[in-house]
Amino acid sequence: MFIGTPLISEEQIQKKVRELAYKITRDYANKDLLVIGILKGSFMFFSDLIRHINTPLKIDFVIASSYQKDKSSGEVTIHYFPREELKNKDILLVEDIIDTGISLQAIKEKILSMNPSSLKICVLLDKKERRVIDVPLDYVGFSIPNKFIVGYGLDYNEMFRNIPYITIFKKELKHV
Ligand code: IMP
Ligand code: MG
Repeated sequence: MFIGTPLISEEQIQKKVRELAYKITRDYANKDLLVIGILKGSFMFFSDLIRHINTPLKIDFVIASSYQKDKSSGEVTIHYFPREELKNKDILLVEDIIDTGISLQAIKEKILSMNPSSLKICVLLDKKERRVIDVPLDYVGFSIPNKFIVGYGLDYNEMFRNIPYITIFKKELKHV
Protein backbone atom coordinates (compact mmCIF):
# COMPACT_ATOMS: atom_id res chain seq x y z
CA MET A 1 0.00 0.00 0.00
CA PHE A 2 1.52 3.33 -1.07
CA ILE A 3 -0.11 6.39 0.46
CA GLY A 4 2.61 9.01 0.36
CA THR A 5 6.30 9.72 0.29
CA PRO A 6 7.94 8.49 3.50
CA LEU A 7 8.93 11.14 6.01
CA ILE A 8 10.95 8.37 7.67
CA SER A 9 11.64 5.22 5.63
CA GLU A 10 11.52 1.60 6.78
CA GLU A 11 15.32 1.44 6.60
CA GLN A 12 15.75 4.59 8.72
CA ILE A 13 13.27 3.27 11.30
CA GLN A 14 14.93 -0.14 11.55
CA LYS A 15 18.42 1.39 11.89
CA LYS A 16 17.18 3.66 14.69
CA VAL A 17 15.37 0.80 16.44
CA ARG A 18 18.62 -1.20 16.56
CA GLU A 19 20.54 1.81 17.93
CA LEU A 20 17.96 2.38 20.69
CA ALA A 21 17.85 -1.33 21.56
CA TYR A 22 21.64 -1.39 21.79
CA LYS A 23 21.63 1.46 24.34
CA ILE A 24 18.79 -0.13 26.32
CA THR A 25 20.63 -3.49 26.40
CA ARG A 26 23.72 -1.74 27.75
CA ASP A 27 21.76 0.24 30.40
CA TYR A 28 19.65 -2.67 31.67
CA ALA A 29 22.25 -5.43 32.13
CA ASN A 30 21.52 -7.16 35.49
CA LYS A 31 18.27 -5.24 36.05
CA ASP A 32 14.76 -6.59 36.59
CA LEU A 33 13.44 -5.12 33.34
CA LEU A 34 9.74 -4.78 32.55
CA VAL A 35 9.04 -3.12 29.20
CA ILE A 36 5.59 -1.53 29.02
CA GLY A 37 4.21 -0.56 25.61
CA ILE A 38 1.50 2.07 25.28
CA LEU A 39 -1.19 0.76 22.92
CA LYS A 40 -2.31 0.94 20.32
CA GLY A 41 0.18 3.27 18.62
CA SER A 42 3.42 1.70 19.87
CA PHE A 43 2.65 -1.92 18.93
CA MET A 44 4.96 -2.05 15.89
CA PHE A 45 7.79 -0.07 17.42
CA PHE A 46 7.47 -2.08 20.65
CA SER A 47 7.69 -5.46 18.93
CA ASP A 48 10.63 -4.41 16.73
CA LEU A 49 12.43 -2.83 19.70
CA ILE A 50 12.16 -5.72 22.17
CA ARG A 51 13.40 -8.28 19.66
CA HIS A 52 16.66 -6.33 19.53
CA ILE A 53 17.02 -5.89 23.31
CA ASN A 54 19.52 -8.53 24.32
CA THR A 55 18.88 -8.87 28.06
CA PRO A 56 16.18 -10.82 29.99
CA LEU A 57 12.90 -8.90 30.24
CA LYS A 58 9.17 -9.15 30.74
CA ILE A 59 6.55 -7.24 28.80
CA ASP A 60 3.18 -5.69 29.52
CA PHE A 61 1.00 -2.93 28.09
CA VAL A 62 -1.01 0.14 28.98
CA ILE A 63 -3.98 0.89 26.76
CA ALA A 64 -4.68 4.61 26.72
CA SER A 65 -6.43 7.06 24.44
CA SER A 66 -6.56 10.81 24.13
CA TYR A 67 -7.03 11.48 20.42
CA GLN A 68 -10.23 11.93 18.42
CA LYS A 69 -9.29 11.73 14.71
CA ASP A 70 -6.34 14.15 14.55
CA LYS A 71 -7.04 16.33 17.61
CA SER A 72 -5.90 15.63 21.15
CA SER A 73 -8.86 15.74 23.53
CA GLY A 74 -6.50 16.70 26.36
CA GLU A 75 -8.08 14.02 28.53
CA VAL A 76 -6.34 10.68 28.97
CA THR A 77 -8.41 7.54 29.49
CA ILE A 78 -6.58 4.42 30.68
CA HIS A 79 -8.45 1.30 29.51
CA TYR A 80 -5.92 -1.32 30.65
CA PHE A 81 -3.11 -1.17 33.19
CA PRO A 82 -0.66 -3.98 34.14
CA ARG A 83 -2.09 -6.23 36.85
CA GLU A 84 1.25 -7.44 38.15
CA GLU A 85 3.20 -5.78 40.93
CA LEU A 86 5.28 -2.85 39.60
CA LYS A 87 7.06 -2.30 42.90
CA ASN A 88 10.83 -2.96 42.68
CA LYS A 89 10.72 -3.33 38.89
CA ASP A 90 12.92 -1.42 36.47
CA ILE A 91 10.35 -0.12 34.05
CA LEU A 92 10.90 1.08 30.52
CA LEU A 93 7.85 2.79 29.06
CA VAL A 94 7.66 2.62 25.26
CA GLU A 95 5.58 5.13 23.31
CA ASP A 96 5.20 5.81 19.59
CA ILE A 97 5.10 9.60 19.74
CA ILE A 98 5.16 12.42 22.27
CA ASP A 99 3.14 15.44 21.25
CA THR A 100 1.69 17.63 24.05
CA GLY A 101 3.13 15.23 26.66
CA ILE A 102 -0.23 14.93 28.41
CA SER A 103 -0.63 11.17 27.78
CA LEU A 104 2.87 10.23 28.88
CA GLN A 105 2.68 12.43 31.95
CA ALA A 106 -0.60 10.79 33.08
CA ILE A 107 0.75 7.26 32.53
CA LYS A 108 4.07 8.10 34.14
CA GLU A 109 2.35 9.43 37.28
CA LYS A 110 0.21 6.31 37.57
CA ILE A 111 3.26 4.03 37.26
CA LEU A 112 5.32 6.09 39.74
CA SER A 113 2.50 5.80 42.30
CA MET A 114 3.21 2.01 42.27
CA ASN A 115 6.80 2.59 43.51
CA PRO A 116 8.93 0.94 40.81
CA SER A 117 12.74 0.83 41.34
CA SER A 118 13.17 2.99 38.25
CA LEU A 119 11.19 4.39 35.34
CA LYS A 120 12.63 5.44 31.98
CA ILE A 121 10.86 6.53 28.83
CA CYS A 122 11.59 5.56 25.23
CA VAL A 123 9.77 7.31 22.37
CA LEU A 124 10.26 6.79 18.66
CA LEU A 125 9.05 10.25 17.65
CA ASP A 126 9.24 13.62 19.37
CA LYS A 127 6.99 16.47 18.13
CA LYS A 128 8.80 19.05 20.29
CA GLU A 129 6.96 22.15 19.08
CA ARG A 130 3.66 20.99 20.53
CA ARG A 131 4.83 20.23 24.06
CA VAL A 132 2.57 21.46 26.90
CA ILE A 133 4.09 19.39 29.72
CA ASP A 134 7.83 18.85 29.93
CA VAL A 135 8.31 15.10 30.29
CA PRO A 136 12.01 14.11 30.47
CA LEU A 137 12.81 11.46 27.84
CA ASP A 138 15.58 8.86 28.14
CA TYR A 139 15.65 7.39 24.62
CA VAL A 140 14.39 9.30 21.56
CA GLY A 141 14.33 8.06 17.97
CA PHE A 142 13.58 11.08 15.78
CA SER A 143 12.50 14.70 16.29
CA ILE A 144 9.78 15.50 13.78
CA PRO A 145 8.04 18.70 12.58
CA ASN A 146 4.59 19.73 13.75
CA LYS A 147 2.65 17.64 11.19
CA PHE A 148 0.10 14.90 11.71
CA ILE A 149 1.74 11.65 10.71
CA VAL A 150 0.56 8.08 10.15
CA GLY A 151 2.12 4.66 9.61
CA TYR A 152 4.32 2.27 11.60
CA GLY A 153 1.55 1.88 14.18
CA LEU A 154 0.27 5.47 14.14
CA ASP A 155 -3.26 6.11 12.94
CA TYR A 156 -5.73 8.65 11.68
CA ASN A 157 -9.14 7.55 12.99
CA GLU A 158 -7.77 3.98 13.44
CA MET A 159 -6.58 3.72 9.83
CA PHE A 160 -3.08 3.49 8.29
CA ARG A 161 -1.41 1.72 11.23
CA ASN A 162 -0.18 -1.03 8.87
CA ILE A 163 1.95 1.22 6.64
CA PRO A 164 5.55 0.06 7.24
CA TYR A 165 7.01 3.60 7.14
CA ILE A 166 6.05 7.03 8.55
CA THR A 167 4.34 9.56 6.30
CA ILE A 168 2.58 12.91 6.67
CA PHE A 169 -1.20 12.46 6.67
CA LYS A 170 -3.13 14.37 4.02
CA LYS A 171 -6.89 14.85 4.24
CA GLU A 172 -7.43 13.48 0.72
CA LEU A 173 -6.18 10.10 1.97
CA LYS A 174 -9.22 9.76 4.22
CA HIS A 175 -11.00 7.42 1.84
CA VAL A 176 -8.06 5.24 0.69
P1 IMP B 1 0.14 13.66 23.65
O1 IMP B 1 -0.63 13.25 24.88
O2 IMP B 1 -0.39 14.94 23.09
O3 IMP B 1 1.63 13.71 23.86
O4 IMP B 1 -0.20 12.63 22.53
C1 IMP B 1 0.38 11.42 22.43
C2 IMP B 1 -0.53 10.46 21.69
O5 IMP B 1 -1.27 11.12 20.65
C3 IMP B 1 0.33 9.44 21.00
O6 IMP B 1 0.41 8.29 21.78
C4 IMP B 1 -0.41 9.17 19.71
O7 IMP B 1 -1.28 8.10 19.89
C5 IMP B 1 -1.21 10.40 19.44
N1 IMP B 1 -0.56 11.25 18.41
C6 IMP B 1 0.09 12.43 18.60
N2 IMP B 1 0.53 12.95 17.45
C7 IMP B 1 0.15 12.07 16.49
C8 IMP B 1 0.34 12.03 15.06
O8 IMP B 1 0.95 12.90 14.42
N3 IMP B 1 -0.20 10.96 14.43
C9 IMP B 1 -0.87 9.96 15.07
N4 IMP B 1 -1.05 9.95 16.40
C10 IMP B 1 -0.55 11.00 17.11
MG1 MG C 1 -0.32 6.49 21.34
